[in-house]
Amino acid sequence: MFLDRIKPLDAILATAEKKSLKRSLGALQLMLFGIGCIIGTGIFVLTAAGAQKAGPGLMLAFAIAGAICVVAALCYAEIASTIPVSGSAYTYTYATMGEFLAWTVGWALVLEYAIAASAVSVGWSGYFTGTILNETFGIFLPAWLSAGPLALGGAEGGFINLPALVIALLVTWLLMIGTSESATVNAVLVAIKVTALMVFIALTLPQVDPDKFNPFLPAGVFGGWGSGVGAVGAAATIFFAYVGFDAVSTAAEETKNPQRNVPIGLVGSLLFCTLFYILVAAGAIGTIGGQPIMGPNGIPFPAGSEELARQCAMPEYAGALVCSGEALAHVLRQIGYSGIGNALGYAAFLALPSVILVLLFAQTRIFFVMSRDGLLPEVLSKVHPKWQTPHVVTLGTGMVVAVAAAFLPVGKLADIANAGTLYAFALVAVAVMVLRRQRPDVKRPFRVQGLWFVGPATIAGCIFLFLNLPSEAMIVLPAWTAIGVVIYFLYGRGRSHLGRGIVEVVDDIGGRESMVPIDEDK
Ligand code: ALA
Repeated sequence: MFLDRIKPLDAILATAEKKSLKRSLGALQLMLFGIGCIIGTGIFVLTAAGAQKAGPGLMLAFAIAGAICVVAALCYAEIASTIPVSGSAYTYTYATMGEFLAWTVGWALVLEYAIAASAVSVGWSGYFTGTILNETFGIFLPAWLSAGPLALGGAEGGFINLPALVIALLVTWLLMIGTSESATVNAVLVAIKVTALMVFIALTLPQVDPDKFNPFLPAGVFGGWGSGVGAVGAAATIFFAYVGFDAVSTAAEETKNPQRNVPIGLVGSLLFCTLFYILVAAGAIGTIGGQPIMGPNGIPFPAGSEELARQCAMPEYAGALVCSGEALAHVLRQIGYSGIGNALGYAAFLALPSVILVLLFAQTRIFFVMSRDGLLPEVLSKVHPKWQTPHVVTLGTGMVVAVAAAFLPVGKLADIANAGTLYAFALVAVAVMVLRRQRPDVKRPFRVQGLWFVGPATIAGCIFLFLNLPSEAMIVLPAWTAIGVVIYFLYGRGRSHLGRGIVEVVDDIGGRESMVPIDEDK
């Protein structure tokens, strides 16, 4: 009942064979693509929430989360090169452990992609209101228009985050009319983001005051399961800064010499970001300080909580890193580089929408594949005659993303997205190991060395981070899964194409399916 209906791997491989995209990507292009998906709200905004949880221990948090992502990335690299079709973790699970678990993974990917898109929209909003409206035009958007309600963890006087709502809808519209990023646009945006971070590091590191790192772990390493504080609590949140690398694995089929280039692309982009993130955290905390605001019991106030919002409204915390909605620009302004701080704000303003685009794109394609499998209503896989995009599912998803962005704070959204992502990563690790046992004969363009260590390490790392999320984010995953299971038994199980004996492998939407930026410039 729970492990039945495994999608036949040979049918999937035959589809992939037919598609056979041109192998044109090298390691550097993959790395650029990866960095384009990875660097976003996590580093530009959540640095503040991370510091509130761990203080200077945020640097350790980046290292922990980065290490877990590296082992997960190796699992993705193997399975994506073996089963190179759409649907990511959902399809991998369908082909190894059957429809029911695949459905739960697809359902959890909504948290990874859609809720993450909401989080990045809220992160963008912080830079838009701070750098563009306040600093550039001297316009102060009232709190009720620039943040969600306090009851949901927003700011004092907040009601709706209008900029976040608008950017999410704008990106939805771009996707509906068929916009996809060209390789050149991606490379330019990566250059902008990386330059901004490099300038940040170059200006802050020489001014670092070692005393600012003392105490290094004000909330300890473990704050306690479900507390969401301490270095590992921060790691569970800051994990968000690495989400998106799995998109690189979807490019396995278009990669030259995948055995070498896929792991270099995936692991290389992660290692590059990990190093950058640690240096950025060192620069931010070493200059203006990043100690958490402690509650009366000596435990940091929860990031994104009402209590913290109230503390941050007090004049004594006006300059605190942990209170800033545009953390990195704020640091530069505080140390006397207002102009460069604004330039960094422009970089975030320009580059973050492309992260929203990639995440929303991924979400709509997962829904599309699930709908073509009969597990979701068929109307979702309708392709627009002119735009050649799944416009119905894109609009529906975009509206939900926009509403979540309008009312929820970035830290909570990121934690919820992380919960779903960790579940998907863990199941991908299981899927790789199952496939090695089930089908040792299948060609694996990339094979993980030491899988029997890497696979279990990924699963253990994901469970560990999950248990260190704040309990309210943790609870969302089982609650969301329970809703999904009910829908599956009421709707999907009876209508599933595979269940009705139809084996169908979807790998095309109007001829444009790649997650890789399409090089329109060639
Ligand atoms: N890793 C992406 C970000 O930080 C999702 O915005």
